[in-house]
Amino acid sequence: MPDLVAELESLARAARDAIAAAGDEPGLEALRVRYLGKKGELSAALRGMGQLAAEERPRVGEAANRVRDEVEALLARARERLEADRLERELRGPPLDVTLPGRGLVARGHRHPVTRTSEEIAQIFARLGYRVASGPEIELDWYNFEALNFPPDHPARDMQDTFFVDEATLGGPAPGALLRTHTSPIQIRAMKEAGRPPVRVVAPGRVYRSDFDQTHSPMFHQVEGFCVDRGITFADLKGTLAAFARAFFGPGTRTRFRPSYFPFVEPGAEVDVSCTICGGTGRKDSSRCGACKGTGWLEVLGAGMVHPVVLENVGFDPRAATGFAFGMGVERLTMLKYGIDDLRVFFDNDLRFLQQF
Ligand code: PHE
Repeated sequence: MPDLVAELESLARAARDAIAAAGDEPGLEALRVRYLGKKGELSAALRGMGQLAAEERPRVGEAANRVRDEVEALLARARERLEADRLERELRGPPLDVTLPGRGLVARGHRHPVTRTSEEIAQIFARLGYRVASGPEIELDWYNFEALNFPPDHPARDMQDTFFVDEATLGGPAPGALLRTHTSPIQIRAMKEAGRPPVRVVAPGRVYRSDFDQTHSPMFHQVEGFCVDRGITFADLKGTLAAFARAFFGPGTRTRFRPSYFPFVEPGAEVDVSCTICGGTGRKDSSRCGACKGTGWLEVLGAGMVHPVVLENVGFDPRAATGFAFGMGVERLTMLKYGIDDLRVFFDNDLRFLQQF
């Protein structure tokens, strides 16, 4: 008759030593299987129980429970010790730089040329102290037209035909909701939000018009900028845009202002820069420059002094503050800077084009 209790005691001793010596978590798991597993040593020892006299069984059963509880507790404590050791080693080891680029052959993408230009323009104005703002692409008629001094039936609205959003699409009442035709409604939103001058904001964004040809897309990008404060004059506008043109197109770039009409500015102007292709001479390789059609100038943006009615519409006193505003087309500026002659390539998603930037 085997002495099962003695056998269990010796199993417990062996387990104590083995668990104390375990050096890693997989090793510890192997010990758990070896001693407590279904086919482990404890089960094997208890298989002899059947041959025991009935009065022996409680004593052996009690010893078996004691050994199992002890080994389980030892395993749990050892696991905690090994986990703590591992964490300690990781913390002491060389730091892991999570900002390192990934290894391997996965190609990294890059920003779209339109995004790059928008960010570059915003950065130039940020350096001049402008705050970057944005507004909704589905805009209300009041912000897009009315507050900007386009009366309901004014023909100037025809220059900016757009897509109107109906109640079914919005899932609720849509009092004159439309896809904004320009970033100028951000002027209204930013001034109302500021509550009073000074306000100096640059605002890139997507805009929509019912247009599609080589130089027009129904969706395109603009950057709006404006500055309203005490004593702002047209000279500030000219100096600011001249500084912008030099920063964006290069230090030799000249600017000129031609009178023009936008309902929300007075006076209004269209602004040209000296041609980026022929350097303003109008001639290229001893013939007429195609980019500026021989004029030496390229039209790049609209601008003007914020109309007093617009200031009143946002609750500003036009006698206490004046301001200027300007808006430019991002695709157009990108085309002029890189000599691209078809705007549609920006939206074809042809990698042979995009990867050049
Ligand atoms: N919003 C005008 C347009 O899209 C441009 C502009 C902006 C003109 C600001 C003057 C002042 O045509």
